[in-house]
Amino acid sequence: MCPPAHFKVTYSINPWMDPSKPVDVPLALAQWEDLRDRYRALGHTVELLDPIPGLPDMVFAANGATVVDGRVLGARFAFQQRGLEAAAHLAWFRAHGYREVREPEHINEGEGDFAVTASYVLAGRGFRASPLSHGEAQEFFGRPVIGLDLVDPRYYHLDTALAVLDDAADEVMYYPGAFSPGSRAVLARLFPGAVLATEADAAALGLNAVSDGLHVLLPAAAVGLAGALRERGYEPVGVDLSELLKGGGSVKCCTLELRGS
Ligand code: ARG
Repeated sequence: MCPPAHFKVTYSINPWMDPSKPVDVPLALAQWEDLRDRYRALGHTVELLDPIPGLPDMVFAANGATVVDGRVLGARFAFQQRGLEAAAHLAWFRAHGYREVREPEHINEGEGDFAVTASYVLAGRGFRASPLSHGEAQEFFGRPVIGLDLVDPRYYHLDTALAVLDDAADEVMYYPGAFSPGSRAVLARLFPGAVLATEADAAALGLNAVSDGLHVLLPAAAVGLAGALRERGYEPVGVDLSELLKGGGSVKCCTLELRGS
């Protein structure tokens, strides 16, 4: 995670971002600290990346890389405003003993568009990641990559429309309306038991969630989703990241998962 010390909305690269709306940085920091503390209280280790002035979106750490089996595929950002974040992530992984660290050839924004289940890497495209990054990820991770077409600009990254609930059991939740008809059919075939989000829960960015297989941390406003998760035996943990929502991100965007080492 990377604290939102320099968080701002000075440009707009997704429909959630309105530079005319003020951002309360102390509140953003307090909300982010609450998320960090909840992870720690659940027994998870949180590593920190130093925030860099002039990179206001760096708090969205999920976009900086994808880690599977300890192998790190770095990011290459679609927008120049975030371009320099990629090097900071690569440097962190190299300094922390990760030996397989690849600087990517094709545009990918880390876990923004890559989601890792037990059997697959699900990969979004349409707004940010290049379709060519999917083949690059498949070759690097040696896992089948399933391309999914995003069609609604509000759900510009895969992690705004789909979350992995149990990466040992291929369980996911998603909002069908964010995907093309063909991709919806693919999701229905691969995940017939998925939790489907309503439009209202998706619009609260409820799918921008992180699960440890039992606890699911998600935006508190996604109340319908919390109920559906409870029915399936998960323990939803509602988190308020309203200030960060102004940048178009929530729980998952703030969290880069370190899988394997
Ligand atoms: N303002 C950021 C952007 O548009 C938000 C990124 C959110 N991160 C995510 N993993 N969806 O790039």
